[in-house]
Amino acid sequence: MIEVKNLVKKYGNFTAVDNISFDAHPGEIVGLLGPNGAGKTTTMRILTGYMPVTSGEVKVAGYDVIEDSMEVRQRVGYMPEQVPLYPDMTVEAFVLYWARLRQTEKPKQRTQDVLEQFGLLDRRKKLVRSLSKGLRQRLGLAQALVHSPSVIILDEPTIGIDPKQVVEVREVVRSLRENHTILFSSHILSEVEQICDRVVIINNGKIVAEGTTDILGEQTHSGLALYVHIDGEKAHIEQLLHDLPAVTDIQLHESGFIIRGHDEELRHAVMQVVADHRLELLEMRPVDRRLEDIFIKLVN
Ligand SMILES: Nc1ncnc2c1ncn2[C@@H]1O[C@H](COP(=O)(O)OP(=O)(O)O)[C@@H](O)[C@H]1O
Ligand SMILES: [Mg+2]
Repeated sequence: MIEVKNLVKKYGNFTAVDNISFDAHPGEIVGLLGPNGAGKTTTMRILTGYMPVTSGEVKVAGYDVIEDSMEVRQRVGYMPEQVPLYPDMTVEAFVLYWARLRQTEKPKQRTQDVLEQFGLLDRRKKLVRSLSKGLRQRLGLAQALVHSPSVIILDEPTIGIDPKQVVEVREVVRSLRENHTILFSSHILSEVEQICDRVVIINNGKIVAEGTTDILGEQTHSGLALYVHIDGEKAHIEQLLHDLPAVTDIQLHESGFIIRGHDEELRHAVMQVVADHRLELLEMRPVDRRLEDIFIKLVN
């Protein structure tokens, strides 16, 4: 539904998005996670057809964001970082305004429907300026979804709202998952983990890691990843670890390797290989979740 291939975006000489590729499918909430300045907003603006690419291919619902910009806009609901709300309009008038602007069929009916969906029906006569920050976010969502888009792009929708409202936004977003493709940006790892099915971490315009959040969750519960440092020649050690049936994945990390597999078996297998080959085990410890590790390093 969202397909980004080798996307590059330059502002003058400065490369804000540096050759990123990722996709998102219907029924999936993908998190775009990265510190401030990572390139999240830039990527999202391009996806909504509001900003041209420097190079690369970006498609939404099969339509190219440049060539078929109007088709893309009809299918995308976008909630920018700062939702442009008109403080002197009523809640209802504001949503209706957007429904008409987007040439929605039966705009009045559709307005009532989204107000109801986002729990704003009883506040429809209130002025936008009187809404709390959390309600404004909901209004932003109502506005973004009034034309029934199949793809939803939410740029840091929980920024500046209190924890209770964060939970509300999370629930609303989760409830939209079934019939939509959702891209959700944030600079907070835990939030992305709670809301998203998959995470793409970007930093300085580049993708630095990608993973499904349920795998991350599993790792916390059963400690599936171990950092192992065995004295000896790197390639040789790597081969030995790689050959262990308990090891499902291996990657270089600091002076040793991070291996993944089934917890207890994994430790046992490492001890065994060390004993069998008369090696010296310098360090073995469970590692925190990989994305968390990477992300913490990035934001520090
Ligand atoms: N219109 C612009 N002109 C020049 N540089 C920009 C512009 N918009 C963003 N940038 C720069 O591009 C980088 C990525 O910005 P942005 O996409 O807003 O990141 P994020 O949303 O992840 O914080 C930042 O270094 C930012 O300063
Ligand atoms: Mg941003």
